[in-house]
Amino acid sequence: LINLDKLTYAGNLENLQDVEQHPNYTFVHGDICQKAVVERLMKDTDAVVHFAAETHVDRSIMDAGDFITTDVYGTFVLLEAARKSQITRFIQISTDEVYGTAMSPEGVSRPSLETDPLMPLSPYAASKAGADRLAFSYWTTYNVPVIITRCSNNYGPYQYPEKLIPLFVTNALDNIPLPIYGDGHNTRDWIFVGEHCKAIDLLLHSSGYDGEIFNIGANKEYSVIQITETLLDILEKPKTLMQFVKDRPGHVPRHAVDTSKFQRSFGWSASADFSEMLERTVRWYREHEQWWRRIRDKDSGYKRYYQKQYQQRVD
Ligand code: TYD
Repeated sequence: LINLDKLTYAGNLENLQDVEQHPNYTFVHGDICQKAVVERLMKDTDAVVHFAAETHVDRSIMDAGDFITTDVYGTFVLLEAARKSQITRFIQISTDEVYGTAMSPEGVSRPSLETDPLMPLSPYAASKAGADRLAFSYWTTYNVPVIITRCSNNYGPYQYPEKLIPLFVTNALDNIPLPIYGDGHNTRDWIFVGEHCKAIDLLLHSSGYDGEIFNIGANKEYSVIQITETLLDILEKPKTLMQFVKDRPGHVPRHAVDTSKFQRSFGWSASADFSEMLERTVRWYREHEQWWRRIRDKDSGYKRYYQKQYQQRVD
């Protein structure tokens, strides 16, 4: 298993300590936009799982450049190298964000289907939609064995504390207000990261399905307020920490995916208990305080981002 990673702000070798000594594991510090590196690595590769991306909506609103470069151009470099190789699988990790608000083409609110039109609402979502369609075109045009996954919101250990759950857990542990955008009624479908990995593993070891798109999700839809209240209860912190702030521009009211295609194809669906997994995640952050303190308190880039985004001081 070759892990190619640029180690941008969210990359962290500490997260890989458990696997770094494994005889089947190699880490390569590099950028998917570097053709020479990608072509060299692709020679020894049977299958690609392409996770590499800028992923945070708020950052894409502040500055979209890196999103276009890594998510779109980087995907192009990987696909070009894949086209010249003998790989048997190219899994494009797309996202449910490509659909925009979950609804039928007639405008009726319902979980997104793989056949729904793409209507990305943020520069992040648009860059992923570009990559998603580019990957599909390499299947239709060059027969690169592409499979596209569109997963819902992930949560779990090691998640960088800019995304809702780890941001709010670490803020609450520090008794800092939890900034809820708008009225907090926006809903997302939340999947535990391990279950997303299980779904990818099933795809990786399957045959057939070239050119197919699969939604992946857990059918656990909750609003930001519901998540926030549950987290505060688990942490035994007061609800007064909830702070309503200016809404995110282009804020998507509802993301949810219909996962029946994946279930039909693989006989599997995410079944982990949400409260249990959320408690496990909170426990992980409690027990790994050094991990997140190094980011929150010592990383000046994180502090600058936080202040710019929320216009308040962290320390
Ligand atoms: P996020 O974790 O950024 O994921 P995404 O935007 O990809 O769904 O946000 C999840 C939800 O939480 C979304 O509705 C925005 C909301 N949110 C807040 O209300 N406050 C915050 O500080 C953040 C980061 C997110």
